[in-house]
Amino acid sequence: MEETKEEIKARLPVEDVVGDYIELKRAGRSLKGRSPWGVDKTPSFMVSPEKGIWHDFSANKGGDIFTFIMEVEGISFREALEKLAARAGVELKKYGGDDKKIAQRKVRAREALELSTKYYQFALSKNQEVCKYVFYKRNMNKATVKEFRIGYSPRSGRALTKFLATKNYRQAELSDAGLLNQYGGDLFRGRMMVPFIDTNGVVIGFTARVLDKSEPKYLNTPETLLFNKSRFIFGLYQAKPAIREKNYVVIVEGNMDVISSHQAGVKTAVATSGTAMTEQHLKILSRLTSDVRLAYDGDEAGLRATERAINMAGALGISLSVISDYHGCKDPDELIQKDAKLWQDAVEHYKPAVDFLLERYEEKLNLNTAGGKKEYSDVAMRLISYLTDPVEKKHYEQLVAKRLDVTVEDLKAKKLPSPRPKRFKQVKTERPSAEQIAYNKMKDSLLSIQLFGGAAGAKLNYEIPSDETKLDELNMIFETKYGKYDERTLAKEAEELSARYDKIVKRMKVEELTAELAEVEDDEEKTNEILREIKQLQNV
Ligand code: UTP
Ligand code: MN
Repeated sequence: MEETKEEIKARLPVEDVVGDYIELKRAGRSLKGRSPWGVDKTPSFMVSPEKGIWHDFSANKGGDIFTFIMEVEGISFREALEKLAARAGVELKKYGGDDKKIAQRKVRAREALELSTKYYQFALSKNQEVCKYVFYKRNMNKATVKEFRIGYSPRSGRALTKFLATKNYRQAELSDAGLLNQYGGDLFRGRMMVPFIDTNGVVIGFTARVLDKSEPKYLNTPETLLFNKSRFIFGLYQAKPAIREKNYVVIVEGNMDVISSHQAGVKTAVATSGTAMTEQHLKILSRLTSDVRLAYDGDEAGLRATERAINMAGALGISLSVISDYHGCKDPDELIQKDAKLWQDAVEHYKPAVDFLLERYEEKLNLNTAGGKKEYSDVAMRLISYLTDPVEKKHYEQLVAKRLDVTVEDLKAKKLPSPRPKRFKQVKTERPSAEQIAYNKMKDSLLSIQLFGGAAGAKLNYEIPSDETKLDELNMIFETKYGKYDERTLAKEAEELSARYDKIVKRMKVEELTAELAEVEDDEEKTNEILREIKQLQNV
């Protein structure tokens, strides 16, 4: 069950699920919108894509995607789970057993892949020819080979399969791992092996390169229980700390470019493996940084890929730029082989992707002819239509107008298919009562101070929830409400809040006991006991 929940969460970003009901705008690391139960004048609904959680400050509700759907649709957890599973394309097994079976198959596949990696690494160390290719032709050093766990798959048809059979792996398990060809033999033969390592450091597949000129140059693991190419980002496991530290990511085209780049000290490089960049790739990266630099080929395909990326980036709040100066080399790897310093400099010399594309089109088209101007304004306005920031939009409109010697109004008069405005889904539940909200708000605020307020929270002693999502939510509440408080102000706030909260709790208890009193009319002993309790509460 946990596994299924996590799988669904990994596939459905919280901002997408929430984004069906309310409009969200990026605000730093989080997104903001108006409460769907709302009466808020300023956006008080926050979403953290990084943590996969939301909190509504006006209605004081929050949680993950499941609680969101439960809250807005007014349905049970099971129903929300079914709804989101269907949307994520995750199969919900009727009986818990099947869920467990899949989990078990994944465990076996992971183990088989880990063993294969070690086997391939060993095979490389035993093969001088291939070592020559890896160390001299590709210029990898020992540390790189170790870090990226480079190996070699022996040429004979069943070397790996036989080895894994001695370790008690059945064919079906090897097939789950994506290690077999259609005849049940080794999929990878006589190739340099590069593992696909997920963000937990676990091997989920391989890309394998021939050592000569034969075809296909690369062979990749097919889609399996573990490997999904539209989500996998090559090198992210190794690049994550650097991306966090430098706050940017470089996307290169080839896996080998990633490896060379890391060796050359540019550890922020990643690649989408054997597939064009998808929205999921960008979304995963957007949780780490909003500065995404593309290092694609300057050919037609590269330009198209860049334009597609601009279209996707706008909605994700990503600022996309392009690294284009390879000093005549065909890819970053080649540039690094020539001079690593040139690549280190290149990643710092980037250009906003829109400027880059506009310049390419200026070069390609003759802007002195009517036809050239029309075509240029067509592509330019299309590019501009992808942008979401009004200031940025205006900047480019003015730039293009100037370039064409027309007014911005002329440009806007061009007929472009306008995107349909998004229709939001209806929220089916009522806003909680003001009292309920006030009470929950106080309680969450207190807990957030107790947990994250340092000295100011030390005196508080409320029961802490054990739910991880709730803790993340409390952290978000603390950051948002009290992040800027100094210790004294916070301590004062804690004291006041706690006094008010305790008073409300007491009042609620008294009300509860009074109601109980009405029910035990005849029982004198019980009546006295309750009366005593009430008195006690009123006295302290
Ligand atoms: P390239 O052919 O540009 O790769 O393909 P590269 O990294 O420069 O290869 P080297 O330097 O000759 O070793 C770019 C990417 O396209 C995918 C791979 O992911 C590769 O990294 N690709 C390419 C395949 O999946 N299969 C292929 O046959 C070729
Ligand atoms: Mn290359």
